[in-house]
Amino acid sequence: MKRILTILSICLLAAVFFAAQGLAADGKSLYARCTGCHGADGSKKALGSGEPLKGKSAADLLKALEGYKAGTFGGAKKAMMEAQVKGLSPEDMKALADYIAGF
Ligand code: HEC
Repeated sequence: MKRILTILSICLLAAVFFAAQGLAADGKSLYARCTGCHGADGSKKALGSGEPLKGKSAADLLKALEGYKAGTFGGAKKAMMEAQVKGLSPEDMKALADYIAGF
């Protein structure tokens, strides 16, 4: 019985570990809510303004996302992006920047 419990708790720990990793750094699923404005491959001009995300480097994308969050970056429609990045952690923004840079 004790052995079964040990094995079960190891499985549980492993499941929690992998689930947490998936949630923390999955740029692809985080990007799902960006597609409406930026397009599935980042080639759309969001609401006719800004620049397409496609072709930008991960460093530039991260700078933009962090800037929107800090209120130090953006153009005429920056309020829209400030609302988007509000709930993102630094890890989320990094994962998004890396994912989008691969378009
Ligand atoms: C409601 C529409 C909308 C959604 C949803 C949206 N964006 Fe944007 N995004 C915009 C607009 C509009 C701009 C230009 C804002 C400005 O004037 O600075 C922009 C700009 C950006 C920029 C800066 C591009 C540049 O000029 O360098 C980045 C990076 C970006 N968005 C990433 C994202 C990511 C990542 C998501 C998803 C988490 C997202 N956006 C979701 C509308 C949207």
